[in-house]
Amino acid sequence: MKSDRIAIYPGSFDPLTNGHVDIIQRGSRLFDRIVVAILLNIEKSPLFTVQERVDIAREVFREYPNVEVDTFDGLLVEYARRKHASAIVRGLRAISDFEYEMQMALMNRHLNPDVETVFMMPAETYTYVSSRLVKEVVALGGSVTNLVPSLVESRLREKRLGRETLRA
Ligand code: PNS
Repeated sequence: MKSDRIAIYPGSFDPLTNGHVDIIQRGSRLFDRIVVAILLNIEKSPLFTVQERVDIAREVFREYPNVEVDTFDGLLVEYARRKHASAIVRGLRAISDFEYEMQMALMNRHLNPDVETVFMMPAETYTYVSSRLVKEVVALGGSVTNLVPSLVESRLREKRLGRETLRA
């Protein structure tokens, strides 16, 4: 019997951008199931709570039957094992992403050689989009229309970010 090909797409998603959405859509076409796994990181102080990020991702992917949204902590490869996933999906925007991504991919391979990291490139229009820049632009009064889902845009507006929210 053929078993489902399951992939994990891990990250902070603070907030979800259209670059993330693009990668999830590509992953959902490539794998039987893709699990968007939001890191529970108690050390970082995120803008959106984990529950808010889960709710946003679930709403954005409401009509995608093979996209699941979940949270995880601890080692990613252990989480992948628990989910019976054979792949970890990561987006590569530019060469600048490569060093960090390669280090993570090789460390994860060292920890669990059965899980393969698969890199995907988002559409060119999103190669400069990051959650960090999205927050900065909003805090400084700029527009992020078309860079994040409209739900994220309205949630960002509700947060009433100001310059003081930008850390040095
Ligand atoms: O959105 P991000 O911050 O680039 O995502 C980073 C993430 C969540 C993929 C990474 O921090 C992670 O996998 N954390 C889990 C801890 C872990 O497994 N570390 C060892 C392998 S590098």
